[in-house]
Amino acid sequence: MSCLSHLECSRTGERYDPAEIQHLSRVGAPLLARYDIERIRADFTPAAIKTRPFDLWRYHEVLPVRDPACIVSLGEGGTPLVRARRLGDELGLEQLFIKDESVNPTASFKSRGMAVAVSMALALGARELATPSAGNAGAALAAYAAAVGVSAHVVLPRDAPRATALEAEALGADVSYVDGLIGDAGRVVAQQCQQRGWYDLSTLKEPYRVEGKKTMGYELYEQLGGRLPNVILYPTGGGTGLIGLWKAFDEMEALGWTDSHRPRMVSVQSTGCAPIARAMDEGADECAFWDNAQTVAPGVRVPKALGDFIILRGLRESAGCAVAVSDDELLEGARRLSQTTGVLACPEAGACFAALERLVRAHWLQRDETVVLFNTASGAKYFS
Ligand SMILES: Cc1ncc(COP(=O)(O)O)c(C=O)c1O
Repeated sequence: MSCLSHLECSRTGERYDPAEIQHLSRVGAPLLARYDIERIRADFTPAAIKTRPFDLWRYHEVLPVRDPACIVSLGEGGTPLVRARRLGDELGLEQLFIKDESVNPTASFKSRGMAVAVSMALALGARELATPSAGNAGAALAAYAAAVGVSAHVVLPRDAPRATALEAEALGADVSYVDGLIGDAGRVVAQQCQQRGWYDLSTLKEPYRVEGKKTMGYELYEQLGGRLPNVILYPTGGGTGLIGLWKAFDEMEALGWTDSHRPRMVSVQSTGCAPIARAMDEGADECAFWDNAQTVAPGVRVPKALGDFIILRGLRESAGCAVAVSDDELLEGARRLSQTTGVLACPEAGACFAALERLVRAHWLQRDETVVLFNTASGAKYFS
């Protein structure tokens, strides 16, 4: 099954035991799962996994769950890579694709992370699970907790999209609100976890959500017929999407699936909260806290991400960039993306569309390059 070997501090490289509950490392950095790739190199090949069901568990060798009985699945992963011919024609791009994550069980890419993280939490004996959320992660936690009958505690900013809050409630989660942003919700969760012994599933404070999300990278490779795209646009909040993709590319290279050519990664944010874009501009290795964060795209309203240094390192290693677009641009982007592709875009994906238009205008990408834009959630979650 899994060839998980150990957990590694993303700053110091110090090793941690995955058989125990682990959160941040001694120096307060995220832990990343490491695998015994050499052991599976010969057998875990694209050809060997071809006939497996197309969901994220087809990559179980490079996922952390060791006991199959602990897997909690609602059919996550295996989302379509939609060829956007009409939009591509409009933009002058021959190979434009939308990776449509709205097709996941809870209609966002957050299903992937929670499927794996909840499975691991159960394997480690946790029964009271908690997360702060901009909306989608909370709904995903609620669903996976409901599937196995454990408690989900979700703390949301009061202005989180109504549909996601109702979704989490309808799935049986204990939902509470803070007047503030996701970091304030995170502080409440941390306090409650300490007082009540809940298991903290905050972004990058446990090592396994990112493992679920990295499967998007493996899927892209398979869906493109055994190659990676030239450019990927991803909306960045806490950064697990980008970090997961980059981790998948590292692993695929170690497995011998790919060579060292990597997609150029584009991190997309709103001008109302763009700490990654600012740090890229300034050549900084970490982000400064973004004051008065404001945007209509809740998934990218994260004033300082715990894994900012990992995101920035990946962007630079990929020869990528970070783009910030205004709320007007991203809302218009979501409208145009939806109406030229038939994929109902979330505001965060609308930001990626606006960024793509800008990069095309700047000739940052060539017309024959393969470009993948992520629709990270269904636009239906934002109707009020
Ligand atoms: C729809 C959507 N897109 C993008 C993001 C940002 O993802 P990440 O936190 O992995 O950067 C989120 C996070 O809440 C989201 O809900």
